[in-house]
Amino acid sequence: MELDTTEIIGQSTSLKEVFRVLGKVAPTDSTVLVTGESGTGKELLVRALHRNSSRCDKPFVPINCGAIPKDLLESELFGHEKGAFTHALRMRPGRFELADGGTIFLDEIGEMELGLQVKILRVLQEKEIERVGGTGSKKVDVRVVAATNRDLEKEVEAGRFREDLFYRLNVIPLHLPPLRERGGDVAVLADYFMGSFCRKGGRKKISFSPEVKRALEFYAWPGNVRELENIMERLSILTEGNTASVEDLPRKILDNLAEMPLAAMAAASVASSTGAVADVSSLVTPSASLSDTAVPQSFVWPTLADLQKYQMNLRDFLDNMEERLLREALEVAGGVKNQAAEVLGIKRTTLIEKLKKRNME
Ligand SMILES: Nc1ncnc2c1ncn2[C@@H]1O[C@H](COP(=O)(O)OP(=O)(O)OP(=O)(O)O)[C@@H](O)[C@H]1O
Ligand SMILES: [Mg+2]
Repeated sequence: MELDTTEIIGQSTSLKEVFRVLGKVAPTDSTVLVTGESGTGKELLVRALHRNSSRCDKPFVPINCGAIPKDLLESELFGHEKGAFTHALRMRPGRFELADGGTIFLDEIGEMELGLQVKILRVLQEKEIERVGGTGSKKVDVRVVAATNRDLEKEVEAGRFREDLFYRLNVIPLHLPPLRERGGDVAVLADYFMGSFCRKGGRKKISFSPEVKRALEFYAWPGNVRELENIMERLSILTEGNTASVEDLPRKILDNLAEMPLAAMAAASVASSTGAVADVSSLVTPSASLSDTAVPQSFVWPTLADLQKYQMNLRDFLDNMEERLLREALEVAGGVKNQAAEVLGIKRTTLIEKLKKRNME
């Protein structure tokens, strides 16, 4: 059967790899753990997983483990018997029972407390649940899919997540890379969202000036696809005329750019070699902190004066330089570590070590 990934927009190699695994795992009953930073599309992916499974015409039951008060979560998940606690006036089935035959989506599983984690492990192993205040257990046929934006391995190390549950959930890991590692997807998504917001708003589709395109490309997108979506909505409302220009962009994006002189320089050289607009300085606002160094006319080695200017010691300064180069290499390589290492002229293992140290993985 053809994999249906409509709604999940993007053509980057890293996203295609996610689709490849999705295609294999969707038809099975395996437990899947979806990880990725906030706003990378974890929920979208889990819904696609259910849609592409043999359980697709059975219930899909999401529950946000981080949003429900701790003392209520157990009865939400497993239900309760009449009289189980003060307000339990009648029996109520839990989400596992409601999901029978289908898929339960345990979102933000990293927020779940240890006591309840044991009970989830039990359901996964025994395939049966026990209602709060109940005496017997009940068989359920539920596929479990969990998601988190935490690093569960670290949570396990810190004693906040049960190791046994982690391994039981992590049978098939699906990792959604951050948007900044998806290369050209930023442009594809920006275009897609802009088109859809303009359609909804009943206006002609707004296009982007070349500077805006480059700004979007080099912004780090800490809020990932959700942030891009929100910014496109904002542009679709605030832009006068049919082309969005740099002035229409939120301050945050411009400031971020000013702090990426090397990447901006690379953009300029690529742009000029392809005959596109090369004036990156128009992107950088004069008041931004590092803007005066953003577009040096020729390369100048840093001096002690630079350390003083940025109030950094040698180590921080070098760390900073290194991080910029690492980010740029990853961007250029579209997130492919082998290629990024090659661009940097270091071993892949060295690169991975450096990324780990900075939590950039
Ligand atoms: N590849 C994509 N194509 C189109 N829309 C996307 C894509 N990825 C995410 N989105 C949209 O971005 C928003 C955030 O996605 P989603 O809620 O799935 O992220 P999440 O990883 O679950 O975030 P959080 O960790 O904050 O819960 C949603 O509006 C979703 O529709
Ligand atoms: Mg989510």
